Amino acid sequence: MATVRLEKLAKIFPGGKGPDVRAVNSIDLTIQDREFMVLVGPSGCGKSTTLRMIAGLEEISDGTVSIDDKVVNNVLPKNRDIAMVFQNYALYPHMTVFDNMAFGLKLRKFPKNEIQDRVNEAANILGIRELLNRKPKALSGGQRQRVAVGRAIVRHPKVFLLDEPLSNLDAKMRVSMRTEISKLHARLAATMIYVTHDQVEAMTMGDRITVMKDGDIMQVAKPLDLYNHPENIFVASFIGSPPMNLFKGKLVREGNSVLFVEDNNEEETRLRFHLDDNLARKGAEYIDKPIIFGIRPEDINDTLTVASPDPRHTIKARVEISEPMGSETYLYLDSGANSFIARVRSTDRFEINSRINLTLSMERGHLFDPESDKVLK
Ligand SMILES: Nc1ncnc2c1ncn2[C@@H]1O[C@H](COP(=O)(O)OP(=O)(O)OP(=O)(O)O)[C@@H](O)[C@H]1O
Ligand SMILES: [Mg+2]
Repeated sequence: MATVRLEKLAKIFPGGKGPDVRAVNSIDLTIQDREFMVLVGPSGCGKSTTLRMIAGLEEISDGTVSIDDKVVNNVLPKNRDIAMVFQNYALYPHMTVFDNMAFGLKLRKFPKNEIQDRVNEAANILGIRELLNRKPKALSGGQRQRVAVGRAIVRHPKVFLLDEPLSNLDAKMRVSMRTEISKLHARLAATMIYVTHDQVEAMTMGDRITVMKDGDIMQVAKPLDLYNHPENIFVASFIGSPPMNLFKGKLVREGNSVLFVEDNNEEETRLRFHLDDNLARKGAEYIDKPIIFGIRPEDINDTLTVASPDPRHTIKARVEISEPMGSETYLYLDSGANSFIARVRSTDRFEINSRINLTLSMERGHLFDPESDKVLK
């Protein structure tokens, strides 16, 4: 059992001659027992610092870290029952795989047979039994990565902390190690906290995801909830590739309906479309005020391919670039004021610079307040 709770956790690095760095800003987060929690966010947002405070490798400036309801702020790292895997997992080059994995247990004066058992068990789980007598230089990147994870597994920790463990691997190896780590999590039934700046890793691996920015938590949610219901513009544009399209404009009322009208000086190409009832209700307070309309590329379709396109949700735009990805095509479009992307069928062909009709799946649209960046509910 291991629940990890962060309460008002903060880290301020003294700035020397410059201003202090607030790396982590009073965050609250509970990671449940056996949960796979991913911390994701751009470089410098405080992911590693958070993880290092949980591990006890970084002094806590304010707030608490608790493991199973016991505050561990003053507990030494080696007594926290935590194992950490780093991005730059330095294996000892002169030691065999076996000795690399056994090293921590030897330091802790484990009996020899216990060490044998634990290393063999971890090697079986990771599929590296036949490598135990090799030295690190005779291993591939993925195999070395497994040894680094093995060093953590033999400890039988309550909590695994992983800081970008796959970032040194090539793209193909990353994908296969990603699945390995997910399987490992299921098999060990341990609490894992995994740091990455790769949103695909976050989406595919996490039970839940914590999105961070500038030392703050922007949202904590299950992967698809994060994708479908982003709380703010940052999460909306960080999760998803290509990212959500965001249009600046205002809402106007016309009779019984509410329209979005793009900020665009060119009357002729200005995007204008009706919201559906649900979005109109959410935007009721914003009539004639600035607003941001968001829609994902897959929710914009070539009108010719839509079964019964609704003219109220159909717009015209110019095709700038068509990027065939194989399974689908990314269409880069231009309204005159905004560039945006649609994901369309790979079989469709588009002429560059032609103006085409596109239909928006309005039930998948979002409205954001441009001041607060928050989604309207
Ligand atoms: N020892 C330190 N002294 C001063 N500032 C630091 C120190 N360590 C980290 N920082 C700063 O704290 C902030 C958070 O750093 P952190 O390493 O936690 O980011 P990160 O989210 O892990 O980024 P990355 O994805 O690049 O690894 C950054 O602005 C960083 O420059
Ligand atoms: Mg980091």
